[in-house]
Amino acid sequence: MLKVVVLVSGGGTNFQAIIDSIKDKKITDTEIVGVIASNPRAYALERAKNNNIPSKVVYSKDYASREEKNKALIDAVNSFGPDLVVLAGFLTILPEELIDLYPNRIVNIHPSLIPSFCGDGFYGLKVHERALERGVKVTGATVHFVDKGTDTGPILLQKAVYILPDDTPEVLQKRVMQDAEWVILPAVINAIAHDKVKQNANGSFYIED
Ligand code: GAR
Repeated sequence: MLKVVVLVSGGGTNFQAIIDSIKDKKITDTEIVGVIASNPRAYALERAKNNNIPSKVVYSKDYASREEKNKALIDAVNSFGPDLVVLAGFLTILPEELIDLYPNRIVNIHPSLIPSFCGDGFYGLKVHERALERGVKVTGATVHFVDKGTDTGPILLQKAVYILPDDTPEVLQKRVMQDAEWVILPAVINAIAHDKVKQNANGSFYIED
């Protein structure tokens, strides 16, 4: 049984997609052992409550320094004893120490086709604003392992989404979530639960059928 901790900052629709995929048996042999929110008002905390999932909040304003907050976050993650940490709309930078503790055991969902529209400053709606400004015709979402850079870790799965002429950032964000994010994040978790993530000779990763 893969024990998963989910880290969230906001609405938690990707968290909900994981919950629903476990219920629908699209993800099997997996249990969400806890959720950690970076913000006490995150709606994701309601979703946790509604599904009897233990939750913790690690809010920067509750700590005197970044070091203390980082320690609290690491302690919170470790307290759940996870096999996998899932960043599902977690919009704060992870402490390097946490990344060292969970090598290739932290995954992130990003709302673009990496390496486009990613890195520092590219999160949430801003990603879609930039894609529309640039005029790209195809965007999408990416799930990747987390390393010490911002959105630089090994890519695991991507799904493309067409941009339509009347798209606003909000409309595009919703379509990327529905058609890509809520599909590929559960798919990657299920693949990890079933040991289907493999590495090519060149070091890149792929998911076995
Ligand atoms: C999602 O679109 C996710 O891809 C994005 O934040 C949103 C969270 O929504 N993450 C990033 O931009 C990370 N760089 P949710 O809370 O409803 O899942």
